[in-house]
Amino acid sequence: MTKENFLTSTARITARITGRITGLGAYLPERILTNSDLEQMVDTTHEWIFTRSGIEERRIAAPDEFSSTMGTKAAQKALQYANLQPADVDAIIVSSMTPDYLCPSTAALIQHELGAKKACAIDIQAACSGFLYGLSIAKAWVESGTFQNILLIATEKNSAFVDYQDRSTCVLFGDGAGAAVIQKNGSGYSIDHVCLGADGEQSNLIVIPASGCRVPASQETIQARQHFLKMNGKEVFKHAVRQMESAAKECLEKTGVSQEAISWMVPHQANVRIMEAIAKRFDVPWERVFRTIQKYGNTSSSTVPIALAELDMEKMPKEHEKLLLFAFGGGLTWGAALLTKTLQ
Ligand code: ACO
Repeated sequence: MTKENFLTSTARITARITGRITGLGAYLPERILTNSDLEQMVDTTHEWIFTRSGIEERRIAAPDEFSSTMGTKAAQKALQYANLQPADVDAIIVSSMTPDYLCPSTAALIQHELGAKKACAIDIQAACSGFLYGLSIAKAWVESGTFQNILLIATEKNSAFVDYQDRSTCVLFGDGAGAAVIQKNGSGYSIDHVCLGADGEQSNLIVIPASGCRVPASQETIQARQHFLKMNGKEVFKHAVRQMESAAKECLEKTGVSQEAISWMVPHQANVRIMEAIAKRFDVPWERVFRTIQKYGNTSSSTVPIALAELDMEKMPKEHEKLLLFAFGGGLTWGAALLTKTLQ
């Protein structure tokens, strides 16, 4: 074999083993909390919430719904889409910053609820960027041959950690779950590249101060409402725009794909003004930025897979269309991924 032939066949093999998303699913709880409902709970207005964030309403889990139960429902839909049974699943990765317990993992609970008996199960925590971190792990696992059928689930019951006396955060968050099946072959979306980043120096910008080992839960921490999420929104906003833009651009540079080749942007749904700022920096028409924030608010790490599942169903991207996903969250963490619709 000549060097040229060897390189061509290597390129073909590399192309064949790009991990793919072959199934998608989402679950949103039934209960809707509108901006006018929130007007009755804290000193706020629909006008303030809508103009500052783009949110009109969000979903809230029932008392007997948890991150595990919502994640299971999203996963069942993704498995059905990929034509797989729970028994086929080799590994379950769950992203959640609102797990059912600190221990055991939500992934283990979902493994049991699904009946995915042969699957290993692990939780990851990268706040709102968790789905993209999980996508990177799942891509590496299928491409290396470690596992064949992976379930990646992002599921969040934010309402359990949001302080409904704090108007600066409670108006932003909602509950929900999204799931993806990742395999080596099959039609769906090839995961062309994933870029990830973090800056722990800014960890104080989004934090749940108490109930970890540093500040264990106590009567004092509960009275001080330290077991609820605190966020410096203004500072987070600036970092979010800067880091998501640079991760998304890095993804394009690494793959040699131009901005014009992007059919859809699927951003983390934290604030419509953040999405507008990034769309402007990429010169992408606003109607090509897929949005669910108006109806679901910020569901942390599940915003991206929920939006992706809805985009797939509603817009039905055609073969070779490219999607640019990006997210940002506590940690701080961020990431971007480039996907291509692939039919075989
Ligand atoms: N209703 C009415 N007024 C309010 C409300 C409310 N719900 N919340 C805050 N205000 C007031 C503030 O008290 C402040 O009043 P003051 O000027 O008298 O002090 C004023 O509104 C402006 O507040 P800001 O916080 O400066 O408002 P801003 O325009 O920055 O919008 C927001 C706030 C929506 C939170 C925005 O900063 C944001 O979206 N930040 C990014 C959040 C994000 O991206 N998070 C992603 C990660 S989330 C995660 O990882 C869990």
